Amino acid sequence: MERRKTWVDYYGNGKAFCIPKRYSCWATVMCVLSLVAKVDNCPAYCTCRENNGTVTCRNLRERTLPTNLPQWANTLIVRDYNITSLLGGSFSHNDTELELVNLSLSGNNIQIIEAYAFLGLTRLQNLDLSHNRLISIASQAFYGLNELRCLCLNDSSLNSAAMQVSNALATDSLRNLQRLELSGNQLKSMPITEFHPLNLTMLVLTNNSIQTLGKENVSSLNEHKEIQVYLASNPFKCNCELDSFYYWLKNASQCADASLLLCSEPESKKGMPLEKLKKDDVECVSSDLEAVSEAVSYVFLGIVLALIGVVFLMVLYLNREGINRWLNNIREACRDQMEVYHYRYEQDSDPRLANVAV
Ligand SMILES: *[C@@H]1O[C@H](CO)[C@@H](O)[C@H](O)[C@H]1NC(C)=O
Ligand SMILES: *[C@@H]1O[C@H](CO)[C@@H](O)[C@H](O)[C@H]1NC(C)=O
Ligand SMILES: *[C@@H]1O[C@H](CO)[C@@H](O)[C@H](O)[C@H]1NC(C)=O
Ligand SMILES: *[C@@H]1O[C@H](CO)[C@@H](O)[C@H](O)[C@H]1NC(C)=O
Ligand SMILES: *[C@@H]1O[C@H](CO)[C@@H](O)[C@H](O)[C@H]1NC(C)=O
Ligand SMILES: *[C@@H]1O[C@H](CO)[C@@H](O)[C@H](O)[C@H]1NC(C)=O
Repeated sequence: MERRKTWVDYYGNGKAFCIPKRYSCWATVMCVLSLVAKVDNCPAYCTCRENNGTVTCRNLRERTLPTNLPQWANTLIVRDYNITSLLGGSFSHNDTELELVNLSLSGNNIQIIEAYAFLGLTRLQNLDLSHNRLISIASQAFYGLNELRCLCLNDSSLNSAAMQVSNALATDSLRNLQRLELSGNQLKSMPITEFHPLNLTMLVLTNNSIQTLGKENVSSLNEHKEIQVYLASNPFKCNCELDSFYYWLKNASQCADASLLLCSEPESKKGMPLEKLKKDDVECVSSDLEAVSEAVSYVFLGIVLALIGVVFLMVLYLNREGINRWLNNIREACRDQMEVYHYRYEQDSDPRLANVAV
């Protein structure tokens, strides 16, 4: 009864206030709305929509995250802030635990994520950190996000913080992470060291600087067939270093956009779909084998020549008697011959014979 009385009183006051000044009823409505808003306490620069649980905040210069979110908030969208550093415990409030399920911090010039930045967001399922300029990410940055399903880190210039991202993703907290967006980061390799701490089903690596996935990555992916990988718009190098990746593409059907992958090197194969490559284009083995067999054949030739030399020397050594004899024979034969010649010469040059001839 008391409550009803105050409401009636309030309504009566409003009426008394509005009518004599000939304001339309809109003024009354505005009065009531502003009072309601004040009661709900929507943070500055934010729009609050209780019917879908969304708080949207937008401000070009503001450097600190909105505080005192309404209890009903399940989605917080912050845009165009100049946050720079996401400090530890940014969302853990002393008195109340936030029930956020979706948090979008896309495009807020975030450069540093400190350890425990998301502490207290135990219900969070979707975290969008895309379109920032991440330079430093603490290895415990994602600590406590036990329910996180989707993490967007696209277009956040991660290439300079690739190692740190690897470490941050290796935390035990992200054991429910299913979808990871890493596109548009100029990444040269996959910044995930192990898949088992995560529960990935979708890994988006499109629009990066990946030239190939190494054997190590291919075999890790083969062990986690539940992961679908997206790799379009990467500058693939279609030489023989591609081989294990090529077979994985052909065989594993784990690459969701395989038909969109194009070669960017060498020049002769630029723009060619990876799927159209032939075995010979990616097999190092043949050219390697040629080089190896060439080397082997030279070595073999050397060995054969050396053997022949050794055999020759041995024959010479073992047969030295025979050779001596042979040499003696030759010498004797020569001497005999010479003697014959000598004899003839002597005969030819005998003056007596010459006189006879004359
Ligand atoms: C963002 O904050 C930094 C100071 O940390 C300042 O140097 C920079 O100009 C700010 N950017 C904008 C767009 O206000
Ligand atoms: C909680 O906030 C109150 C003031 O609102 C403060 O005195 C207290 O130290 C805080 N507790 C923690 C654990 O931060
Ligand atoms: C990138 O981030 C935006 C959010 O800003 C998201 O909507 C989008 O799906 C993400 N992925 C790609 C591939 O653009
Ligand atoms: C690809 O990534 C770059 C940043 O590396 C970004 O500027 C560009 O908009 C992205 N392209 C597409 C089509 O998303
Ligand atoms: C993928 O390859 C990179 C670079 O070779 C390596 O650091 C990383 O650990 C590999 N990841 C997996 C899951 O194999
Ligand atoms: C293709 O995949 C099957 C099953 O995953 C595997 O047994 C086979 O060795 C693969 N073949 C090649 C050429 O990688």
